[in-house]
Amino acid sequence: MKIGIPKETHVGERRVALVPESCKKLVNKGIEVTIQSGAGTDAYFDDALYTVVGATIEGDTGALLGGADLVLMVQPPTLGQIEQMREGAMLLTSLLPTHSLDVVRKLAERKVSTFSTDCIPRTTRAQSMDTLSSMANIAGYRAVLIAANHLAKYFPMFMTAAGTIFPAKVFVIGAGVAGLQAIATARRLGATVVATDTRRAVAEQVQSLGGKFVGVESEEDAQMTSGYAKELSQEFYRKQADLIAEQCRANDVVITTALIGGIKAPKLITEEMVRNMQPGSVIVDLAATAGGNCVIAEPGRTVVRHHVTIAAPLNLPADMPIHGSTLYSRNLTAFVLEFWKDNQFNLDLEDEIIAGALITHEGQVRHEPTRKALEGGEG
Ligand code: NAI
Repeated sequence: MKIGIPKETHVGERRVALVPESCKKLVNKGIEVTIQSGAGTDAYFDDALYTVVGATIEGDTGALLGGADLVLMVQPPTLGQIEQMREGAMLLTSLLPTHSLDVVRKLAERKVSTFSTDCIPRTTRAQSMDTLSSMANIAGYRAVLIAANHLAKYFPMFMTAAGTIFPAKVFVIGAGVAGLQAIATARRLGATVVATDTRRAVAEQVQSLGGKFVGVESEEDAQMTSGYAKELSQEFYRKQADLIAEQCRANDVVITTALIGGIKAPKLITEEMVRNMQPGSVIVDLAATAGGNCVIAEPGRTVVRHHVTIAAPLNLPADMPIHGSTLYSRNLTAFVLEFWKDNQFNLDLEDEIIAGALITHEGQVRHEPTRKALEGGEG
């Protein structure tokens, strides 16, 4: 099998889908790996590091894509790149298929078998392939650094000759992967942390990281067997709005990561809540990629409104390209090797991981939510 790694073309994307460490693992299994010249340069992995581990370097995108049986990418391919892939080839990338309908349509037309890493089920067996968790971890960590950078205060407590400085107060909304990492990072920097979530089961995890859990008094719980949160009643959200308003007023930093069903970002922070925050406070809205949790956050920008800095970064893993690429690459390699049987990739349609991740195959769109979105005429 020939694996091809094109250079990413998405604006601001500095990661590469395969780093030399993982490349070596694949080459050792007898897989031929070709890297587009310069594909790893923005992540500080030069061509020479790939040749040392047995990869071939190709300068021409068309030759690379046309010659690959399996293409590995970080971002969805462009329509032009899909045109250059050969019919029947496989593609493994983070597609967010319901947000990439034109790309999905083109991949189906081209008869590419596409796996989207963000659709891999969150099961124990698939943990090593979970790019969403690897990348959310980076986002949670970076969110705290961004907040600390903008905050006009120290994070830790200081006892100085000029008197005591009390620690910064951080409020985290959503204690999933990104939220838990944000709590851990803020604690390491010395802040006091309060967190809330609609899944009460996470309270213990928040506490084990040194945070305090605050929840809505209610019988309702958002926990689903998939590990994601479900939508709750309007009454629950009304009660939660009071809790969030109170915590926004009481804390210096708010980091929001709330996501329903792994897709939709609920609107939780109103303009009124921002207006009532202390001047100089900071909000980092990590859910910006899914539409945002704060109504006045501007995806991809940092703005100051009502004396509060509101950052809504869209691709934090790309800002940390060495570890961003390394973890992503390990996830993709785990996927490839899981199905590497008798010197070939075993595209087992009955396997739950393949069944979840396979978006297009033999000209059909197999992923139901994407098919529905296409039939509904969206995109
Ligand atoms: P996750 O699904 O693991 O966690 C989301 C959490 O939000 C869950 O624990 C869920 O129960 C909770 N939640 C849902 N509704 C809530 C509500 N009303 N109040 C409080 N909590 C609520 O998601 P993950 O992987 O941690 O990602 C978090 C966010 O970070 C997502 O929006 C994701 O798109 C984003 N992200 C952003 C990146 C960036 O660069 N901006 C990079 C990676 C992820």
